[in-house]
Amino acid sequence: MAKSAQQSKKLVIPENEILAFAIDHETPVYLYDEALIRSICKKLKASFNWAPGFKNYFAVKATPNPSILEILKDEGFGVDCSSMAELMLAELVGFSGNDIFFTSNNTPLDEYTKAKGLGAIINLDDVSHVEFIHETIGLPDLLCFRYNPGRSRTGNVIIGDPENSKFGMTKNQIFAAIEKSLNLGVKKFALHTMIISNCLNESEIFANAKMMFDLVVEIFEKTGVNVETVNCGGGFGIPYRPEDRDFDLDTLSRNMQEYFKGLLTRDGVKPFNIVFECGRYITGPAGMLVTRILHLKKSYKNFIGVDANMANLMRPALYNSYHHIVHIKDPNYGIINSKLKRSLSEQSQDGVYDVVGSLCENNDKLAIDRFIGHNVEIGDLLVILDAGAHGHCMGFNYNGKLRSAEYLKTSSSSGSLIEIRRRETLNDYFSTINYKCSK
Ligand SMILES: Cc1ncc(COP(=O)(O)O)c(C=O)c1O
Repeated sequence: MAKSAQQSKKLVIPENEILAFAIDHETPVYLYDEALIRSICKKLKASFNWAPGFKNYFAVKATPNPSILEILKDEGFGVDCSSMAELMLAELVGFSGNDIFFTSNNTPLDEYTKAKGLGAIINLDDVSHVEFIHETIGLPDLLCFRYNPGRSRTGNVIIGDPENSKFGMTKNQIFAAIEKSLNLGVKKFALHTMIISNCLNESEIFANAKMMFDLVVEIFEKTGVNVETVNCGGGFGIPYRPEDRDFDLDTLSRNMQEYFKGLLTRDGVKPFNIVFECGRYITGPAGMLVTRILHLKKSYKNFIGVDANMANLMRPALYNSYHHIVHIKDPNYGIINSKLKRSLSEQSQDGVYDVVGSLCENNDKLAIDRFIGHNVEIGDLLVILDAGAHGHCMGFNYNGKLRSAEYLKTSSSSGSLIEIRRRETLNDYFSTINYKCSK
């Protein structure tokens, strides 16, 4: 729905710093703020300081950049990997052993081999993989199983409803997997679930935790196995819209603590480690995509054409997600490149636009019917907020579009922006092609 006035949302990196940066750096570009990432980490750790073995295994897929992972390592986080490349990134930064969760699905053998080699906690998506690992690389001492509660729970648009989701095992399969693993010499067990994403309602995450805690008790009562670690997944939401409320971490923590204490009064149930694997909550708010206005167009609607597109940020096209956009007038534009002139033509009267990229895809829209501002001109900057997770990493090369650079504003005293990934070039694009011109 169009908004007549732009509700505010704070820029994590101040406008003057973005403008100064944009003088001599190409757009589109991702900027991240280390100080904010660290403060979110600290808040999460402080909130769960009561929980045995508490750790957040950062979902590497959210922001797979080693410079970011290094910050998280320094904050005492682990990593949650889902592929060979993510395992290699974790290794590069120095994660090993129980600081790595390997949560994959339809997993190739070489990825299991790598995960086992790193000593990662291997989280199986299917009961048949117990046998598969046993017969190939051998089972580790500790195994984790991913639980899918099916019809008893609802999911959401990003993950889908559990019953139709490709992830995880039924409860009967979890029991079968434990029995089989015990027979094959596995000694320790962990449980995992991930059925919800970008959830701002802490009571839904609490319902997940309760479900998992109850499963621990049921497993103990039926098999005598004390599960060692419960991974309640990620999925904590962030307020993408100005009117969204913050995720209430402390209420979640308090409810989980109370429920956990209650469980431990049951005969024989031992304390277990409680962990999460949040990605978006940690880095989402700390990242922004800065893009420049290339053209203004009016047909049946008013369009702002920017130099970013859905290959730089796919979430709006894929999930119809909202990312708040802040319009910045750039007084330096035109000084930088005198061939490019400002234009006041084709402005929308009410300041409402579709913000579009240049892909040959009609859903290449970063915002639809959005109030961007009055006096929008070619050469201005648009800052797309809360893009620090599941943003740059979902990029792709359709239409030969190239991924943008990533910069980190360090929390050192200079607060400088350092390049942590360069832009892709056309040479990168052509480097995988095998073609000899026959002419
Ligand atoms: C298995 C698993 N864990 C954790 C996450 C992280 O989710 P979020 O970034 O929403 O916390 C994902 C996201 O896709 C996931 O698939």
